Parts: sequence; C-alpha cells; structure tokens
Amino acid sequence: MPTPKHPESAAITIFGARGDLTQRKLIPALYNLYLDGHLPEKFAIFCVDFVTIGEQEYRDEMLKGVNEFSRSGKAGPNTWAGFAKRVQYIQGDFQQDVTYTTLRSKIKEFEQGRGIRMFYFAVAPRFIEVISDELCKNKLCTIDTHHRVVVEKPFGTDLASARKLNRYLSSRFQEKQIFHIDHYLGKEMVQNILAFRFANHIFDPLWNKDFIDHVEISVAEEVSVGKRGGYYDTSGALRDMIQNHLLQLLCIIAMDCPKAYEAEAIRDSKVKVLKNIRMMTDKEVFTNVVRGQYTQGEVQGEQRVAYREEPNVSPESNTETFVAARLFIDNSRWKGVPFFLRTGKSMPRQSSVIMVQFKESPNAIFKDNNVPNRLVISIQPELEIGLVFESKVPGLHMQLVPVKMNFMYTDNYSQSLPEAYETLLLDVLEGDATSFMRTDQIEAAWKVVMPILDAWKASPSKQLRFYPAGTWGPSEADSLLKPHAKDWYKLEAPPRVTQNMKSIE
Ligand code: BG6
Repeated sequence: MPTPKHPESAAITIFGARGDLTQRKLIPALYNLYLDGHLPEKFAIFCVDFVTIGEQEYRDEMLKGVNEFSRSGKAGPNTWAGFAKRVQYIQGDFQQDVTYTTLRSKIKEFEQGRGIRMFYFAVAPRFIEVISDELCKNKLCTIDTHHRVVVEKPFGTDLASARKLNRYLSSRFQEKQIFHIDHYLGKEMVQNILAFRFANHIFDPLWNKDFIDHVEISVAEEVSVGKRGGYYDTSGALRDMIQNHLLQLLCIIAMDCPKAYEAEAIRDSKVKVLKNIRMMTDKEVFTNVVRGQYTQGEVQGEQRVAYREEPNVSPESNTETFVAARLFIDNSRWKGVPFFLRTGKSMPRQSSVIMVQFKESPNAIFKDNNVPNRLVISIQPELEIGLVFESKVPGLHMQLVPVKMNFMYTDNYSQSLPEAYETLLLDVLEGDATSFMRTDQIEAAWKVVMPILDAWKASPSKQLRFYPAGTWGPSEADSLLKPHAKDWYKLEAPPRVTQNMKSIE
C-alpha cells in the first residue's frame, strides 16, 4: 500500500460556504481532522459565498454546525479558537472576477512555497463551469497535481450532460486533479469491503456464479425529501442514489481483484463491472425495475405528508422516491446471478445492507436444511458483517436452525469512527484518488441508468407504484426477486443480544 503523502501546507477553499453541506459536513469534518492532528501544521480555509456576513458571525455559524453535527460532540473553546482563526470568509459572487482576485491575493499571502490547494465545489451544478473557468483564468488552479478540485454530485443529469461537464473539466484540469466525491465510498464499512474481500482468501473461491445465488443491495432512508423538494423533484431516486451510491456499492461487491491497492487499478476493476452490466430494452425496464412514490404515513411515530404535498414538489409529480432494480453482470464470474438494488425515502428506518445469498447445499442429508448461507454486510447505522449458517440445536436429536456469526465494530473497536467526509477530505489533501470516481466510471454509471430514464420519460406515470411512508416500499418490489427469494432481506433493527452467535429464528 502506498504511504500517504502528508502535505506541509494546505490552502482549502470552499465555494458554497453558507450551504448546508459546508455547515453539516465539511467544516465538522475539517474540524475533526484538525482535532486528531491530520491537517498540516500550516493550513487555511477560505470560505466563499454570495451573502454578506461578518467573519465572526460566519465562524459562529460554523461552530453551531460543529456543535450539532460533529461526531466528536461540542467543540472545546481552545481547540475551536485554534481552528477558527484559520477560517476566513470571503463574500463574493462566483461569476465576478473580483471574487477570484481577492481569493488569489489571500492564498498568495498565506502560501510560502508550494503547498496543496484544494477547491471544493459545494455549489449548485450551474456554477461548476464558471468557477472552473475563473480558477484557471486567475491561475488559482494551474496544471499542477498540487492543485485539486473537488466536485460534488450530481455530475450531470444524464449521460449527455455528464459528458459535457466532464469535457469541460478535463479541458481545464488533468484527471489527477479532479476528485469526484461519492461520500458512500468514504464510509468506514464500504472501505472495509475491499479488505474483507481481498485480504481474506476464504471467500475468494466462492465469489462467483457457482456459489452465489443472488446479491441484494439495500439503502433505506428514514428521512423524507424534507426541504430538498426543489432539487429532488427534478432528480428522483434513480439519479440521486442508484446512479452513484448503489452502483458504486455494486462495483465493490462485484469487481475482480485489482492488480494493486492503487487508485488506477481499483478504478479500472470497478469500471469493468459497470461496462458489463446488461442494458435493458424499454420493455425490460418495466419488468426489471420498480419505481415507487411515498404517500402519507407514519415514520417512527411521526406523521409524514405524501411526497406530492412536500414543499416545492409538483402535486402531480411522477418523480420516484423508491427504486428497486434487477441487474445482471454479463461476465464469466457473474453470468446469470441477479443483483437486486433498492433504495427509498420515508422508510421505517435508516439501514444500508448488502446481503450475499449463497446457493443451497447440494448435500440433502438433513431434512430441515433449507436455509441458504448468507453473508450480511451492514454499512449503517450498524457496522457489522454476519454469516448465517445452519447449526445443530443442542439436544438429543439432529435438528437444524440457522444462526448468525457476527463481527460488530462496537465489540471490536473502541475508537470513534471517522465520518466519510473526513476520510475523503484527507484523501484529497494526500492526493489519493482511490475512493473517488474517475470520469469514465461516472459515464459508465450513467450508461447503465439511461435506458431506465428514457423508458420512464417516455411513459411518465406507467407503473408508478405508491407506498405509504413508513413501509418498505411497494409490494411489486418483492415480485422482482422471484424465483430467488420471496421477500427482501429484513432491515429491521437487530435485537439487542450480547452473545456473538445467536439463533435467527
Ligand atoms: C445523498 C443524496 O447523496 O445521499 C440524499 O442526495 C441522501 O438524498 C443521502 O439522503 C444519503 O446519504 P447517507 O450518508 O445519509 O446515507
């Protein structure tokens, strides 16, 4: 594994400094990196946004964000003071030259010699091009691998717009300078899947069509669209979650072992998976993909309005808040193995789980051996890897019951886990692109979802299924699994048990 290169100095610029992402995620992540001693000795954070606000007032807003959202809890006054003095607010219009000349003089004043420059685009997609242009024009981000831009999703709204954006960025920066963030790739358990799969040889020989019956990837969200109706109604779950997060999870589960633990090799392996996903015809879209939208209901005791009644959502909206899809990867490892993906909002609880179901045992010597082995990887909120297998019930007769052998983070590690954004921001500073999406990966992922987008666009309300908020989605999603399973792996909260092995019946 390459040793990370700790930079000596870093000038971090955040465009969109007053946005939600900055307050909830970026500043708390940078603060925690500072707290744990991961930021360089010399660093400055330049926060750029339209709004006129005093520097102290801005820092206070950010402190509120840290106190509310940081995993390390409320900031200590001294540590915060040490961090906050490096935060500078720059009021500026992203479309005006003067914003960049001011930024440039501040960066120049801060820098001594060659340090890292990170430019984080926490902005609406329409600003990406103008900011990129200005960064080039003002020689803020030059063709230098020490100068890096970080781009948040959405990377386009379809294949054509993603290509256009990618061309735009690649004509200004080198691929090595562009870090496309998919925060799922920074999640601790997602990173562990690579270690789990490729550092433990026992699973390697089983990881294919001969032993695996099917794979389920579920990302259930308890939250509704909330205040994001304006964005979400033009996006929907397919673009918002499947095209990026779920397809990335699929790549990690399905990829071949990369040639090395190195960014390009890992991304090469992932892109191969995407390129091998079978394309659907219009007709196949309606038999392989279920779309749903939540109606009113109750989630964890709280009343929820229907999606169509959410602020900034059209009352006739056909936008999907739920998607379940059956995909096939046409390569020799996975031929014929279905990968079931599902995601939805306003579900009973937050839970992201990958379940790998193995084929049934060919040994028919036990009459009640009817539960296939399952490997369950829980990404959040629990971080666990469990293996379900048959075991003899203690007693005088041979009777079997499925049990689960569990590896839980809480039992094995005492340290608090870094947030995805901490891991990813540090990776950018260290120039490690392993957990970022390469341009070709983004385009390959769009190619996978384009037939679905096109078919839905042509028939906007065809087979749009409704599910009450607080349920696991429309029942049609269960039918997709046939004949491999009757229903999806249950995402209920695990029972509180202390033993390492328990019966699951
Ligand atoms: C974002 C989506 O990318 O991921 C949101 O835009 C979604 O709609 C979020 O809620 C889910 O992330 P997490 O980390 O809460 O599972």
